[in-house]
Amino acid sequence: MAMTGVLRPGHAQVRVLNLEEGIHFYRNVLGLVETGRDDQGRVYFKCWDERDHSCYVIREADTAGIDFFGFKVLDKATLEKLDADLQAYGLTTTRIPAGEMLETGERVRFELPSGHLIELYAEKTRIGNGIPEVNPAPWNAQREHGIAPVQLDHCLLYGPNIAEVQKIFTEVLGFYLVERVLSPDGDSDVGIWLSCSHKVHDIAFVEYPEKGKLHHCSFLLESWEQVLRAGDIMSMNEVNVDIGPTRHGVTRGCTIYAWDPSGNRFETFMGGYHPYPDYEPLAWTYDNFAQGLDYPQRKLHETFLTVVT
Ligand SMILES: [Fe+2]
Repeated sequence: MAMTGVLRPGHAQVRVLNLEEGIHFYRNVLGLVETGRDDQGRVYFKCWDERDHSCYVIREADTAGIDFFGFKVLDKATLEKLDADLQAYGLTTTRIPAGEMLETGERVRFELPSGHLIELYAEKTRIGNGIPEVNPAPWNAQREHGIAPVQLDHCLLYGPNIAEVQKIFTEVLGFYLVERVLSPDGDSDVGIWLSCSHKVHDIAFVEYPEKGKLHHCSFLLESWEQVLRAGDIMSMNEVNVDIGPTRHGVTRGCTIYAWDPSGNRFETFMGGYHPYPDYEPLAWTYDNFAQGLDYPQRKLHETFLTVVT
């Protein structure tokens, strides 16, 4: 599809219970690259192959969870148009000035009916991936440090009113529905996977009574072997693993779910297929969701449904 509106997931800000523990985990175990610290005490990271300044920001707090998830849009004119479109749809938007996040331009923030804060922004300083733009090598030493994902890929959020959330993403922001899990009676969806690109998901939601919950932020790896290597590194560092390594039926992604030291779930994954906006959404019946979650084991892991931050 033409990349003309919302381009991709840009950043997540996540709360950790102990900042130093969080810094060590995200820098040395997950293998993100630290790119800055600000006067609010926030620490900024990027994945080694990303070119913009930061994709993942942590701050210390009394509770774990997600503060907001941001998408990069094409340019400032697109940001203005989407802000106007969100307001015309009936949502209240807030402008956060450029520089409030390090190396990040003005952001447009709004709250979803699920209780999550979503942001749009057009500008973030390009710092590159450490590889020359002329005659680039395929990778560099940063790819060998820790799990070392290539990019922040998507997030899964839990909250109420996901039918309304879907309308905002598809009718205002230009996303399309890729897959869904039907409710037991088949009348509604309990899970939705939405894309603004040709990825199987850029954001996903599961219906949940409590507002604003984080299920996981997901980081992309290049191969199944890299996913298995991630599992090795998790075990070497005594990371609490939730599910996997295995393959999802939903999206076909090959995955490990695990928790950071504060209890925020994260995913390291590869694979999936390449949908386009003209594809019919794929559906999973509720009684078969175990296969959608864990295709080989066909097991509806209790933690997937109940453990969120
Ligand atoms: Fe995921």
